[in-house]
Amino acid sequence: MNALSFDMAAAEALFAFWSDAGVDACFGEEPVDRTIFVAPSPSRGPATVTPLRAPGAAPSADEAAAEARRLAAGATTLDELAQAIAAFEGCPLRAMGARQAVFARGNPQGSLMVIGEGPGAEEDARGQPFVGQAGQLLDRILTVAGLLDEAFITNTVFWKTPGNRTPTPQEQAACAPLLERAATLLKPKAVLVVGAAAARAVLKTDDGIMRTRGQWREWRLSEGGIAAPAMATLHPAFLLRQPQAKGLVWKDILDLSARLHAEAVEPGA
Ligand code: URA
Repeated sequence: MNALSFDMAAAEALFAFWSDAGVDACFGEEPVDRTIFVAPSPSRGPATVTPLRAPGAAPSADEAAAEARRLAAGATTLDELAQAIAAFEGCPLRAMGARQAVFARGNPQGSLMVIGEGPGAEEDARGQPFVGQAGQLLDRILTVAGLLDEAFITNTVFWKTPGNRTPTPQEQAACAPLLERAATLLKPKAVLVVGAAAARAVLKTDDGIMRTRGQWREWRLSEGGIAAPAMATLHPAFLLRQPQAKGLVWKDILDLSARLHAEAVEPGA
């Protein structure tokens, strides 16, 4: 083995080690405020700081929200919305190592909208939400309840977070107009909000998930109106770590199923 191939092998082993440890993005030692453009000085003197946005730099929160609203309003179908999301540059997560936008899977005519927190590494690789271990458990739960065929499954943010951390309220706010547009186009009869971070964003509550879960709330859209009755439940990733909590989720799912099926038979009954 020559010196170069040895170095390559060592580098590959190091990257594999970091990847196994959950490192999936590279950052500098110091925090960087990417809302400020530091213009390079031609004289090599001290850099000048200007509040203008550099080409390709992240937009401000206001610019991002305006862009999300504009793209959302222009989408008249869920397919168009998927394209709008892929074109949306306002979510800071987009520039943090995500491979692609992850929007939705499931039935685009379904009566149930399921909203999780955000895609993980597996979802990022495959371009679909909830396809990892937690997603498989979610599918099993929905299947047993007879709800999988009715479900349209998405998330509060459409790009994976570095290290699978919880998305910030700012990241969720950037994506919110697009998520709300999905609800407006889908017109679900009920919304299942999965996990604490999704409950915070959709139900606009700081209450803990143990207090919020199992209760019907109204999902109030920021442009006015109510999308649908929404219920939060525990995240399947939590159930993988705490299987004894499955009973609570099952209780919530039975309530959800009863509501969806009761409404389905009511008109002819
Ligand atoms: N967890 C989520 O909240 N969403 C996914 O898509 C995958 C895991």
